[in-house]
Amino acid sequence: MPRKELRGAVVVVTGASAGIGWVTADLFARRGSRMVLAARREERLEALARAIRVRGGTAVVQRCDVTELTELEALRDQALTTFGRVDVLVNNAGIPGGGPFRDVDLGYLVSLIRTNFTAIVMATKVFLPPLVESGGHVVNVASLAGRFAVPGSAVYSATKHAVIAFSESLHTELAPRVLVTAVNPGLVQTEGFPQRGMPRRLVMRPERVAHVIVRAVEDGIAPEVSVPRSLAVFQLVRILAPPLYRAGLRQILVRGVRRQYLS
Ligand SMILES: NC(=O)c1ccc[n+]([C@@H]2O[C@H](COP(=O)([O-])OP(=O)(O)OC[C@H]3O[C@@H](n4cnc5c(N)ncnc54)[C@H](OP(=O)(O)O)[C@@H]3O)[C@@H](O)[C@H]2O)c1
Repeated sequence: MPRKELRGAVVVVTGASAGIGWVTADLFARRGSRMVLAARREERLEALARAIRVRGGTAVVQRCDVTELTELEALRDQALTTFGRVDVLVNNAGIPGGGPFRDVDLGYLVSLIRTNFTAIVMATKVFLPPLVESGGHVVNVASLAGRFAVPGSAVYSATKHAVIAFSESLHTELAPRVLVTAVNPGLVQTEGFPQRGMPRRLVMRPERVAHVIVRAVEDGIAPEVSVPRSLAVFQLVRILAPPLYRAGLRQILVRGVRRQYLS
């Protein structure tokens, strides 16, 4: 028996103009949810909304830069004006790390923190009253980089650790009225994360993550779910044998980072 009926539920997805957000919004719409699509590239959101409506679904579009509090408030107001309620908020918008710390521009690092972490806190705060009213669910798209401190991606990794801690703490505070779930994907090939040089067998399609997000809402899975789950075994090694874990991580990931940024 699902915890949440997705048919008719009002679902807000940030970063719905591409990648994981696009596929997730499309999947919720296929399950009968009424969609509020948000990102900065409005023409892409309109294209997705048209595709949803052609199938008989319901979708509205709102241009929204998630780093701007006033734009998040306008997004909430648009959802409430159109549908009168919000059942699910998927905080998915995010940007990549940009390369090794010593090479990345400081301005970029500040916007990385604002986009990947501060915006999630702001959006959750802004949407909390309607979510409390509906008994809703917040899904924060974090990353396995929020579980393993990835070499070559220090600030990105730190933002995702922060998202996981925020999600778990807030879930404990708000459940069972409102559930909060961090979804931690591994490598997914998307526009912002092309995964150049990564072994193909480790790279997933966004559809796999979208299914995990939808299932987390439908079945009330919280406060955390990782995909693929097989990598969770490294957590055990990390706790039981930290030096071994760090040596292994250096070997595997520094090679990958080198291939990604220096090739
Ligand atoms: N791909 C991976 O390997 C991977 C792995 C783990 C976690 N993740 C996480 O998954 C999430 C989605 O990433 P993706 O792989 O799907 O990347 P993507 O294809 O590049 O999509 C990123 C989305 O975020 C939106 N976005 C970025 N900055 C924004 C802003 N300031 N305001 C509003 N929207 C903004 C973009 O829309 P606009 O440019 O139109 O605004 C776009 O829709 C991110 O949080 C990412 O960290 C990805």
